[in-house]
Amino acid sequence: MRDFVVVGHIAKTTPDFSLEDLPGTSGRIDVLCRCVNSAFMLSHGIRRDVRCNLLLMGGPETKILRFDGRRLRHLNPDERSTAALMKKALSINAGPLWRESTPGIYIRKGDLRSLIESLRDEGQRLYYLREDGAPLSGTVSEGAFILGDHTGMTEDEEHLLESMGAEIVSIGPLSLHADHCIVIINWMCDNAARSR
Ligand SMILES: C[S@@+](CC[C@H](N)C(=O)[O-])C[C@H]1O[C@@H](n2cnc3c(N)ncnc32)[C@H](O)[C@@H]1O
Repeated sequence: MRDFVVVGHIAKTTPDFSLEDLPGTSGRIDVLCRCVNSAFMLSHGIRRDVRCNLLLMGGPETKILRFDGRRLRHLNPDERSTAALMKKALSINAGPLWRESTPGIYIRKGDLRSLIESLRDEGQRLYYLREDGAPLSGTVSEGAFILGDHTGMTEDEEHLLESMGAEIVSIGPLSLHADHCIVIINWMCDNAARSR
């Protein structure tokens, strides 16, 4: 399984945002929608071996939205319809355990530590993507890839990730958009998996 984690520092945790103005009303959920698109979208289908975990921090209680390719339905390439799926998930009562809102989309309360701990407990190797990290090896075909949003990652978050054993890796010196990084990581992991 390939996991992506994207930290949305100002992303709303409630469904009261406008699909007509995502950048202006949602706390940049549009950025996260593009990451979901990059994580799953193939030309004629979606990747089934991928999960995309979005940490929404723009509210009093941090929430995690998980898209799981094994069961995912109703995902289309446009941001608006992905945001509508997220809006629906945010309208259900989230507790500490995952609840499915639509097929393959789950929500729970939780912070970065609890999410990373759960991935590590599943046996996922942790990779924190940062421009100045060590080059991501071309032999990596799975793991949990952790990315910041348009504001990057805070110092505290970086310390947490390092303390949990995340390796700091780079896909080049230029600062790219998180969704573009995801396309590149998928491509690298696909190549690595093929040549095993
Ligand atoms: C838009 S960038 C953040 C830009 C910048 N750190 C800032 O705060 O303005 C979003 C995320 O993509 C990832 N990223 C961007 N370029 C990268 C690269 N060349 N190698 C590894 N990760 C990268 C990082 O995880 C980063 O936090």
